[in-house]
Amino acid sequence: MTPPTTTVLAGDGLAAGHGRTTVVPALDLAVEAGTVTALVGPNGSGKSTLLMTLARVLPPRGGRVLLDGEPITARSSVEVARRLGVLPQTAVVPAGATVREVVEQGRYPQLGPWAMMRRRDDSVMERALRLTGLLDLADRRLDSLSGGERQRAWIAMTLAQQTGILLLDEPTTYLDVRHQIDLMRLVRGLCDEHGITVVMVLHDLNQAARYADRLVALRDGTVRADGPPTAVLTPPVLREVFDVDAVVVPDPVTGRPWFVAR
Ligand SMILES: Nc1ncnc2c1ncn2[C@@H]1O[C@H](COP(=O)(O)OP(=O)(O)O)[C@@H](O)[C@H]1O
Ligand SMILES: [Mg+2]
Repeated sequence: MTPPTTTVLAGDGLAAGHGRTTVVPALDLAVEAGTVTALVGPNGSGKSTLLMTLARVLPPRGGRVLLDGEPITARSSVEVARRLGVLPQTAVVPAGATVREVVEQGRYPQLGPWAMMRRRDDSVMERALRLTGLLDLADRRLDSLSGGERQRAWIAMTLAQQTGILLLDEPTTYLDVRHQIDLMRLVRGLCDEHGITVVMVLHDLNQAARYADRLVALRDGTVRADGPPTAVLTPPVLREVFDVDAVVVPDPVTGRPWFVAR
């Protein structure tokens, strides 16, 4: 018997785009609680547009986004920010801000109207900085950091928000291989140990197959394949979605599918 699942975030006939351009014409997607979903697809296939529409950063052009089964538009911005943390693909660096100040911003939605009177939530801050390896850089200005260090600061800010749902757009961009592995393990651990639901855009398909429960492959704004890594990371899907002629073998460490281009 399969355990019951709860849909925490869904697109229902969702259309998404920018200005007059529709990027995602109509998409149904239900994300189950306590799972890691990777959105994959070529550049320009609509991954970021979809993720930002699910996060209510972009308004839908049609259909609805459901958060915990209710239209996300029925919730206040603060309620959404308490439930859902977003790491955009590109973020604007606030002039002069330190890592600690940026990560602290993640706390604002949790603090409520009495924020100024409360003790700073140091344990949450320290944990977010520790998990991203930023404790030693906490007092450095963000604009003095390398791309990878800055990326980790954004991730720490998103973690400090302590939401049950995380939407991450290319979180491993700029990270060296050590930090990529650390981040993927951190994401997996947040899901396995804390039941956090993650939807992330990843470019590295082998990484997606290794750390996600489900892959959703997009091309031209439509879902071309959706399922566990073994069902999606296959030669026909790689050809259809990415125009890549590939061999798929079991990853020697985990046995999950692993692709090599011919
Ligand atoms: N801010 C924007 N304004 C107008 N068009 C955009 C904007 N952002 C993305 N697009 C267009 O939407 C399409 C999908 O982009 P995007 O969702 O960023 O794809 P992906 O994340 O899969 O690379 C592309 O054709 C892109 O040029
Ligand atoms: Mg993108």
